[in-house]
Amino acid sequence: MTSTTAAHNLLTDNPELYEARFPDPDRLAGRWTEDCLRRHGTGERVLDMGCGTGRDAAHLHGAGRTVTGADISEAMLAHARTNHPGPVYVRADLHDFDLGRGVFDAVVCLDSALLYCHTNDQLDAFFRSCRRALAPDGLLVAEMRNGAYFLGRVDLLDAPAVNSLAWQGTAYRSHTTLTVDRTAQLLRRTRVWTTDDGSPPVEQRSAWRLLFPQELRHFLATHGFEVLELHDGPGPRTEPPWQEGQLPGDTTDADRLHVVARLTTPH
Ligand SMILES: C[S@@+](CC[C@H](N)C(=O)[O-])C[C@H]1O[C@@H](n2cnc3c(N)ncnc32)[C@H](O)[C@@H]1O
Repeated sequence: MTSTTAAHNLLTDNPELYEARFPDPDRLAGRWTEDCLRRHGTGERVLDMGCGTGRDAAHLHGAGRTVTGADISEAMLAHARTNHPGPVYVRADLHDFDLGRGVFDAVVCLDSALLYCHTNDQLDAFFRSCRRALAPDGLLVAEMRNGAYFLGRVDLLDAPAVNSLAWQGTAYRSHTTLTVDRTAQLLRRTRVWTTDDGSPPVEQRSAWRLLFPQELRHFLATHGFEVLELHDGPGPRTEPPWQEGQLPGDTTDADRLHVVARLTTPH
């Protein structure tokens, strides 16, 4: 197969396609996040870092919060402003952002957005930025893949996973291959998109940091946070998914990691 390597990410460049590929009609992620914020008595000012299409930010806005959604992708931000109004949407980089000092009661970072911090320096800068952004006792809520889950799970790697979806009259098919870069501690993904409209295949590469639970604890402690919850579910992307009223578990064995931490030592 001949393929074109795209410089951009097909999903983040096409937010409608992203929502079609990862539907959340019941706003489970937004509801789970609101549940965490409420359970810990968090104030109303929320920053959603890596907000993507704005679905979760708008849900939190609808729950009565004052929300800022931030993302690096202009396409995502434009989509969010039009389709999920309510929050203020701004362009910011997870790797180092400054949206004001002590101006948020919570920072949320959902669906592995945090794992776009690949290096320790980028992770340090992210947590430093959160510390600056949060008011005293502010909360950090993050939900992501669990690096520890990949230990020994060679069955998840190398063989392509195939997914199909129809969007705006075109059938899309993706072949996704995951590989582990042990040196960089990254999960690398190669995804080849084909369509039935005669376009050439598009190959895209991305990577997530393989972040381990004890490593996360260390980063948080170093940056002045106390871990309140760290668990593998139930959450919005676990199987079975979280349901209203369910409390967090205490294991970190399965494929998703959920963390809630409080800033106890502000700058
Ligand atoms: C997997 S999506 C998750 C989106 C959203 N949080 C959700 O749960 O639907 C990851 C998002 O992170 C954004 N992103 C990637 N690198 C980023 C960076 N360095 N700074 C800010 N956002 C980034 C992407 O544009 C994308 O919208």
